[in-house]
Amino acid sequence: MAIRKVGVIGCGLMGHGIAQVAAQGGCEVIVAEENQAFLDKGLERIDKSLAKLSEKAKEKGQTFDAAAVRGRIRGTLAKGELSDCDLIVEAIVENLDVKLVLFAELGKSAKREAIFASNTSSFPIAEMAAASGRPDRFVGLHFFNPVQLMKLVEVVRTDKTNEDVVAQARAFGEACGKTPITCKDTPGFVVNRLLVPYMAEAMKLAERGDASIPDIDVAMKLGCGYPMGPFELTDYVGLDTTLFILQGWARRYPDEAAFRIPKLLAEKVKEGKLGRKTGQGFYTWQGDKRV
Ligand code: 3HC
Repeated sequence: MAIRKVGVIGCGLMGHGIAQVAAQGGCEVIVAEENQAFLDKGLERIDKSLAKLSEKAKEKGQTFDAAAVRGRIRGTLAKGELSDCDLIVEAIVENLDVKLVLFAELGKSAKREAIFASNTSSFPIAEMAAASGRPDRFVGLHFFNPVQLMKLVEVVRTDKTNEDVVAQARAFGEACGKTPITCKDTPGFVVNRLLVPYMAEAMKLAERGDASIPDIDVAMKLGCGYPMGPFELTDYVGLDTTLFILQGWARRYPDEAAFRIPKLLAEKVKEGKLGRKTGQGFYTWQGDKRV
């Protein structure tokens, strides 16, 4: 079965990007949100991103049919409309209980051969797969922010995922313009298992006064060729998101030193300094740009 019709649940930071790249890959997409304001905001983000990509293509003398891509995306407030989708990707709030309820519902309403995927950054795929009642047709599909520009997708398999489902998920990732890698259902999969402890370690280094925050960022940008240093990247991802991931792991794996929560991170979140989205984190931001 080829994946032609894709349902995306959640049109926020990740969901709008997933809906967009799936449509860019030629799929018909229905994106579901809880209320009209969230849906409108997500669709507006898609329009802005498509306009930017058109502008870039024009500069390079290439064609990019933004109207055709946009024409393949439809928003809805009724999750039931996703019942005939070949693939349903969940990109809602990072709350395991809410995700479990959602997948239990989808398990009853979606067509029998549909594939289910979660874009979770830190929860066990196997728990959601079990709740859906169809663990053999369930994968993690972990995209990266900003979805439109980042070239990777992690395809996470559990020990119950059917091999054919893994192959179809990889093919879908490629159709979205991404390079898929396959990995097991372990905390943080590949990228976040390495990235989040790295960000936390950078904060511990700054807490000890070993180097300043800007110097640590410059060091990693120029010393390793990373596009952003660890603090700029934490601001970009969100301090609350980073803290939330670490808190979940720290609870599940209390003996793992790499998952200990830096004081600096907990304090900033308490002060409401969540990074780019609040205009203040480790740095000050104006819109998408660091001041
Ligand atoms: N759609 C279309 N175009 C976009 C866009 C989007 N969503 N976002 C940015 N752009 C455009 C910008 O408008 C800009 O256009 P311009 O050249 O005309 O001004 C162009 O892309 C380049 O963007 P920027 O000028 O902001 O700067 P950069 O060249 O630094 O590129 C970046 C931005 C790609 C984000 C780069 O800084 C980068 O790769 N940063 C690291 C990001 C990263 O590591 N992401 C992973 C985070 S971890 C994660 O997501 C996992 C989760 O589970 C926590």
